[in-house]
Amino acid sequence: DWNMPDYIAEAVASIRAQVGDDEVILGLSGGVDSSVAAALIHRAIGDKLTCVFVDHGLLRLDEGKMVMEMFSKNLGVKVIQVNAEQQFMGHLAGVTDPEAKRKIIGREFVEVFQVESAKLSNAKWLAQGTIYPDVIESAGKGKKGHTIKSHHNVGGLPDTLNLKLLEPLRELFKDEVRKLGVALGLPHGMVYRHPFPGPGLGVRILGEVKKEFADLLRRADAIFIEELRNTLVDTAAADSKLNWYDATSQAFAVFLPVKSVGVMGDGRTYEYVVALRAVQTLDFMTAQWAHLPHDLLGKVSNRIINEVRGINRVVYDISGKPPATIEWE
Ligand code: XMP
Repeated sequence: DWNMPDYIAEAVASIRAQVGDDEVILGLSGGVDSSVAAALIHRAIGDKLTCVFVDHGLLRLDEGKMVMEMFSKNLGVKVIQVNAEQQFMGHLAGVTDPEAKRKIIGREFVEVFQVESAKLSNAKWLAQGTIYPDVIESAGKGKKGHTIKSHHNVGGLPDTLNLKLLEPLRELFKDEVRKLGVALGLPHGMVYRHPFPGPGLGVRILGEVKKEFADLLRRADAIFIEELRNTLVDTAAADSKLNWYDATSQAFAVFLPVKSVGVMGDGRTYEYVVALRAVQTLDFMTAQWAHLPHDLLGKVSNRIINEVRGINRVVYDISGKPPATIEWE
């Protein structure tokens, strides 16, 4: 059990020693890892850190607003917000293979970074929120010589960027990263959010990614998350404040590009399907589907179908990992 102020002081000194007077660029995704990395590096070098927040059009609802508010407004971190939705959507058009989609999203990130880092004359470092389990998983894949799923935030990026890699969270586990984030002043609710994959909604829209699908999925997902946060696990226990969001490790909606028939008033509908996924896991290598209360699932289903025109059916994923993965792609 390490002492947090000591750890921060040591990490700050080590970052300063490593980068000197160079400028650092960091891809801020809004996820826990890149956010904590940004807060830590900002603590060490202040304005010599520039964060680039790429809105690839595959973010959760209001994510952009939230990130800019927290980092730019509250913490005073330099953040450049890039709206690259059209660029990403353009390159993803017609692509259905999950790994091909990941590669395109990773490659476009590099593109955007090259453009942005070229604007910063002294940027010599690329900071990333790589954590210990990412390092292990990537090494494992290399040894086996095949890819289960490529994680675009590990490996590959710096080669074409001509930037040195700064990864201050490389030795930390997730729970340590979260504690560090809180100690650095990030809001508890933000630091204890579920992990969100780098490719974002790109791997939660099955097959071809379209803006129309992303817009529907964002709204369905936000309803699911809101209801999980607002529903206590044990309503009988007066002192228990645990809600279903905190009682699950990851929960999200998945867009299925399949139309099914429904009825609405006197009319027939023919619209898309959303699957809900909620899992409980310690290490994300294996996971159980969460036994969410039927009332909660029913409420989420009703709200999505009533509030998100274009979705007329909601299903719940009851697959464990293995053999299913947590994400659908
Ligand atoms: P799976 O779906 O393999 O996911 O059971 C395990 C964990 O990894 C996350 N994940 C990703 N994270 N880039 C990421 O940064 C990716 O391409 C990616 N694919 C999966 C997933 O959300 C889960 O937490």
